[in-house]
Amino acid sequence: MIAVRVLSAVAGRRYLDDLAGVLVDCVDGGASVSFLAPLSRVTAVAFFETVLQSVDRGERLLLAAFLDSHLVGTVQILLDTPPNQPHRADIAKLLVARSARGQGIAGILMRHVEDQCRVRHRALLCLDTATGSMAEKLYRRLGWTAAGSIPNYALLPGGQPCATTIFWKQLE
Ligand SMILES: CC(C)(COP(=O)(O)OP(=O)(O)OC[C@H]1O[C@@H](n2cnc3c(N)ncnc32)[C@H](O)[C@@H]1OP(=O)(O)O)[C@@H](O)C(=O)NCCC(=O)NCCS
Repeated sequence: MIAVRVLSAVAGRRYLDDLAGVLVDCVDGGASVSFLAPLSRVTAVAFFETVLQSVDRGERLLLAAFLDSHLVGTVQILLDTPPNQPHRADIAKLLVARSARGQGIAGILMRHVEDQCRVRHRALLCLDTATGSMAEKLYRRLGWTAAGSIPNYALLPGGQPCATTIFWKQLE
């Protein structure tokens, strides 16, 4: 059974270790999500602590997916856009633990992202992802449009440069 919840800062603190575990697992698996390998648990926890401070300030939403009550996936909606972009949100850090992949959890998380954005009148969504990644295929399947690709934008966890594709989606 898969359930998705929007975590408050208080709830997020209860799941800090699980959130950090998913991030470490994704980086160990080669995902280009801001960090180089090896990513320590301490650094991953510190990252989610700053995320939760931002949740507390109302700048972002933190969503978590639970498979049989275990936290296995997460994604963030960044709402802290400039005053002239009140209709927009950025989506970041869609992460699903390797053991839970291939069951549509990312798709379910992204459907909740769209629902949350709709009720907040955030109709234009943007994100970027490593070119050629599994995530890139997923976003295309979910109806996102690729605006273009930037070569050598970031490093893969192992240190090799990798391109990034910028995506956008206009909600109905
Ligand atoms: C991208 C990611 C979030 C997808 O999560 P997911 O819950 O496995 O997504 P889905 O179940 O919808 O499957 C995605 C694809 O993987 C394929 N897949 C099937 N079984 C799989 C398995 N055991 N392991 C991995 N992928 C599998 C699916 O067929 C699907 O392919 P398709 O898009 O061509 O249909 C996940 O791979 C991930 O966390 N990657 C690392 C982090 C990352 O790159 N995040 C994006 C940041 S922008």
